[in-house]
Amino acid sequence: MGVERGKWFRDARFGMFIHWGLYSILGRGEWVMYLEHIPVEEYAKLAERFRPVRFDPDEWVSYAKEAGMRYMILTSRHHDGFSLFDSKVSHFTAPKSAAGRDLVAEFIDACHRAGMRVGLYYSLLDWRWPAYWKGPKKDPEGWSKFLEYVHTQVEEICSNYGRLDVLWYDGAWPYTAEDWRSSELNAKVRKLQPDILINNRSGLPEDFDTPEQHIRASPSGRLWEACMTMTEYFWGYCKGDPWRSTRRLIQYLVTCASGDGNLLLNVGPKADGSFPAMAVRRLKEIGSWMKANGESIYGSERCPFSSAVGPLTAKGNKVYLHVFRWPGREVCVSGVSNDVKEAYLLASGDYVRVSKKGDRVFLRGLPSRPPDPYDTVIAIELDGPPVGVPYKVEG
Ligand code: GLC
Repeated sequence: MGVERGKWFRDARFGMFIHWGLYSILGRGEWVMYLEHIPVEEYAKLAERFRPVRFDPDEWVSYAKEAGMRYMILTSRHHDGFSLFDSKVSHFTAPKSAAGRDLVAEFIDACHRAGMRVGLYYSLLDWRWPAYWKGPKKDPEGWSKFLEYVHTQVEEICSNYGRLDVLWYDGAWPYTAEDWRSSELNAKVRKLQPDILINNRSGLPEDFDTPEQHIRASPSGRLWEACMTMTEYFWGYCKGDPWRSTRRLIQYLVTCASGDGNLLLNVGPKADGSFPAMAVRRLKEIGSWMKANGESIYGSERCPFSSAVGPLTAKGNKVYLHVFRWPGREVCVSGVSNDVKEAYLLASGDYVRVSKKGDRVFLRGLPSRPPDPYDTVIAIELDGPPVGVPYKVEG
């Protein structure tokens, strides 16, 4: 991939994932239709109860901005088959049911207005289609009709809403890229949206990897983005799903950045379109941390040094130590070949005493308790870009 096409994505580091659909009404997660064996006809009735009276996409965008997020991805259609957008190949859509609105159009317009990068999630699989369950081998005719529906919908979301920055496929299982005719589909997508980034879930690697509910860095040079939920289990709104702490969410973001990757943090709005209060609270808390420490995240790179107190990120001649485990007055960073010019707490600018012994840098005179409850960042300015020294016992 051209480095240029992915640059904004690498620099952004932090995005918002939004899982919203009919399942939000039931409040038992986005897999409720499958997990509770709800018959297609019965589930379809939910469309008459989906009235997103509090949906205000400008407000969604402002929450994302306030949190320091630089892009947003919405589920245009999840596995249950309900499209939030207008489609000529489906009646099971928001505009053609109680909502009476093209929610994807409104969402994308709000992002465009605010200069927010925007992408759509699209599930290849659709539980309502018998052909999906039978598969291309058992039901070649049904499968080709199903594929026509899927390909048409992907073309619709890539044609009808202006610029789209990301296409976030999901649900290719258990079939192959050949079964989905993914290369043909992605070629059409790239024709419609030449700068788009496509994830790795159409059975093809395409532009970026998507570790889910865990963080695993891809090899250097490859874009990646971990997607994580704010609650423990589900992506769609789920009552009683325990909330992860703000501290944990910030540490996810930092861990991703330290491995040259992004965090796509999920919110599951309620059926009426409002964000749960706990989500708003976390977004604001993350946002105030980002205001003081965002420099260590946006556009950051891997750092070749190591420390026992937390991960490091790097940018230009600076490295940033993220102290997840506050050790008290003194911290050691090792593997440093550079000379150190100065070090200071990023949020306050307070200087820290620096000394060096071999490849080890000691930062001394720190406050005995962590100044930041989530992650205190210590900026270290070097004589040039960081150069690492591997650990080795001489002898
Ligand atoms: C999974 C789940 C789904 C969720 C997605 C997000 O594939 O099926 O519910 O949308 O991952 O990564």
